[in-house]
Amino acid sequence: MTDASTNLKRAAQMIADARSVVILTGAGVSAESGLATFRDPEEGHWSKYDPMQLATLDAFNADPELVTRWYHWRFTRARDVQPNPGHFAIAALQKHKAEQAQSLTLITQNVDGLHQRAGAADVVELHGTIHTWRCTTTGKETPLSELSFDTFPIPSAAGGLMRPCIVWFGEMLPQEALERSFGAMAECDLFISIGTSATVEPAASFLLAAKGNGAATIEINRDPTPNTSIVDVALQGPSGSILPLILNELGIG
Ligand code: APR
Repeated sequence: MTDASTNLKRAAQMIADARSVVILTGAGVSAESGLATFRDPEEGHWSKYDPMQLATLDAFNADPELVTRWYHWRFTRARDVQPNPGHFAIAALQKHKAEQAQSLTLITQNVDGLHQRAGAADVVELHGTIHTWRCTTTGKETPLSELSFDTFPIPSAAGGLMRPCIVWFGEMLPQEALERSFGAMAECDLFISIGTSATVEPAASFLLAAKGNGAATIEINRDPTPNTSIVDVALQGPSGSILPLILNELGIG
């Protein structure tokens, strides 16, 4: 047996044995749907802009038209792609664990909503969502479907502007999402990191926190990350291929 298939079997066994699983996902899980990750270059018009420069309150205040247009483009990209087999495998695993009276808490740094579209429930959206926007003056939230993108930026009814409910660099993470994340990590016996470069806090420390609580750890990523040498099992490759193989191994789906 190759190392890769031994590791796959080990990972499947760890998942089968776990009563309480936490999965943390990043941009890599949506890559096979056609959405560029943060650290891979985007193609086309927006490739000349650095996402790190646009995803800030300062950038929005300095040029709300540019930042609104960028998020409108990102939203249309997210809307026009489909969840991939990795998203569906995670949702199926969550359903399977629930049927066994076990739990799987899904925490994502993604704002694209693809986990939910694949059927995942109660997703903890650590960095917010592109599908809800709010008024800069009152904080009142509006589903994106109710906004018309006729003008950029979008004026709000209260005289402010509409911005996406996304956590920009330098902003606080939503308190409820943080509490749910730390609560789930304190209880989990298995932590799985999928498609995240594990470089942005606090998600970067989640794996260490779970490990410190005694959880077993798995990483699934196309490339090595700072977590690769720390986890019990590292599976290298695209999550859209590896996750269905794990499900197969578990006899699910
Ligand atoms: N399957 C698995 N992993 C993949 C795949 C794939 N098909 N394609 C890319 N990856 C991996 C990359 O190797 C990288 O390690 O996914 C990771 C994506 O890393 P980032 O682009 O840094 O995305 P993420 O970890 O989600 O970034 C965290 O940083 O920029 C901020 O707020 C933004 O939510 C984002 C956060």
